[in-house]
Parts: sequence; C-alpha cells; structure tokens
Amino acid sequence: MILVTGANGQLGRRIVQHLIAREPGLRGRRLAVSVREPARAGDLAFRNVLVRHGDFDQPETLPQAFAGVLRLVLVPTDGPAELRLQRHRNAIRAALAAGVGHVLYVSGLEADMTPATPFSRVHQETEALLASSALPHTVLRCPPYSDALPGWFAPALTDGTLRVPAGDGVLSLVSRDELAQAIAAAALAPRLDQRIHRLTGQAAVGLADIAARIARVCSRPLRYEASEAADPTDATEASTSLFAAIARGQFAALSRDFAALVGHPPKSLDCLIHEYFAPRSLA
Ligand SMILES: NC(=O)c1ccc[n+]([C@@H]2O[C@H](COP(=O)([O-])OP(=O)(O)OC[C@H]3O[C@@H](n4cnc5c(N)ncnc54)[C@H](OP(=O)(O)O)[C@@H]3O)[C@@H](O)[C@H]2O)c1
Repeated sequence: MILVTGANGQLGRRIVQHLIAREPGLRGRRLAVSVREPARAGDLAFRNVLVRHGDFDQPETLPQAFAGVLRLVLVPTDGPAELRLQRHRNAIRAALAAGVGHVLYVSGLEADMTPATPFSRVHQETEALLASSALPHTVLRCPPYSDALPGWFAPALTDGTLRVPAGDGVLSLVSRDELAQAIAAAALAPRLDQRIHRLTGQAAVGLADIAARIARVCSRPLRYEASEAADPTDATEASTSLFAAIARGQFAALSRDFAALVGHPPKSLDCLIHEYFAPRSLA
C-alpha cells in the first residue's frame, strides 16, 4: 500500500491525483492517505482511496495511520520551522515503529545550504534523521513552486518594481502540479532507489530576467531591484529564508532527474509565465 501524508494540502492532494491517473488500479486497498481532518477528504473516499486520520502533532494517531504501509510519501508540513521539525521527527519515528517499507521524503533544494537558515534546517535535519534511521528512503528535493510568481510579481506590476533580497541569484522553478507528478512517478517506480532526486526546472534565471519576461507578456514596465538582505540565519519568515537561498545560488543547479522520473522535462519558464500572466481573452 502507498500512503500519502498531508493529502488535504495542495501538494499532497495533487500527488494522490497523479498516482490515480498513472495507476487507476491502486484504488481499493492499495492507496491510502493520512490527513488531520478526514471529513475534508470525502472526495478521495468516494474515489475508493483509504482515508486515515494522522496528525503529526498527535503521535498517538500515527500507528493506526501508518499500519500496513509499504511506501510512505512524507509531505513536509507548514508553519514555524521548529514545529515542522518536531512533526517530521514524530512521523519518522512512527514510520519506523509501524514497519513502513520505504519513505519518500519531499524535501527542498535548500536542504544543504550553509550556513543553514531556520527553514532550510527543517529539510536538512529531516533528511539527516532519515539517513541515521534504519528506514530505506528516497529524497525528492523540490525548487520553489512557480505558482509563487503571481504572488511575487503581480503587486509589483502596479509600481513597476519588485524589491526583494534575492541579490543576483538565479533559480529554476517548477509548478506545484508538475512536482506532484514527479513525486507520484517516484512513488510508483518498480524498484525504489535510495538517492536524492533534484526536481529542478529546465533553466535557471535571475529575477531581473524573469521580470523582463513578465513585462513582455503583460506589456507593462517591470523590473527587479535587489533590496538589502536581512540576516537569514535569524529568519522567522519563510520568505526571508527563501530569498536568501536564491541569493546564495541554492536553486541554481540543474538536473535531469525530473525528466528521468516523468518521461519529459517540466514546462519551460516562458510557458509558466504565459499561464500566469498572459491577459485572458474575453471570447
Ligand atoms: N517548494 C515550494 O515552493 C514550497 C512552497 C510552500 C510550501 N512548501 C512545503 O511543501 C509542503 C506542501 O506544500 P503545499 O503547497 O501542499 O502546502 P499546504 O497546502 O499549505 O499544505 C500544508 C500541509 O501541511 C500538512 N500539515 C500541517 N500540519 C500537520 C500535522 N500536524 N500533521 C500532518 N500534516 C500536517 C497539511 O496536512 P493536511 O492534509 O492534514 O491538511 C498539508 O498537507 C508545505 O507544507 C511546505 O513544507 C514548499
């Protein structure tokens, strides 16, 4: 049985949808989810997915949630860094105790950042916990979601300038849905490998270049200006940590791991920008 945690979240739900699309026969007793509020997963139950209650803040719910699981897709939780780490510790301990066969941890490309920020440390320490455990595991390191682009740039379209502390860093972006597709493909591999997959986009570009491409699509002036960086090792905001990671080139490296899992590369940056920013036709 494959079990996906966090399936009421946006990534987790998409992973389940891609699992079903790739292998419809999983439904029945071979596909399960663990969620904090089972009532919100009624559509999955309707589609014959086993819905279990599992809350990493309530470790007593996890033995039941993880019972009989061969492959566990561990979706990281949201919230403050320390709390997330404690939840991941609880989940890994429970997976070990329940005899889970293999864990696929959805990590971030910032996991090996030095010095670490509070947020990059969540992935770093979760990966380290898995490495020091007896659990066979695969790590799927994700770049920032391209879905964040409208949130970053749409407000800047008003005054024409995006000011964030990302320096001259370049990054690759992949959409949340495509990452879910790659994670589902990894979970369905006939033989699971114990390695780190880097699910990067096709190209790494800087925010100035991204601004210029969005400006072309929107026919509006838009530029990027690097603002002064706060101390990222002290970050209480995930965004401070993220922009610091971009500035340090943490999302610059490119890999073919996405295509190796899915069978084709992820969408190009221009394609994504067109999806998010092209004026919609009224027809
Ligand atoms: N690569 C990126 O750009 C990026 C951006 C944002 C976030 N992330 C990370 O990726 C994760 C998934 O992203 P998303 O877009 O799906 O975010 P999301 O929709 O906010 O989902 C948050 C997830 O955290 C889970 N969660 C929170 N508290 C939990 C607990 N106590 N026990 C078990 N699960 C708990 C939720 O589970 P339920 O199903 O029970 O609600 C849900 O799946 C985020 O939590 C974050 O760690 C990555």
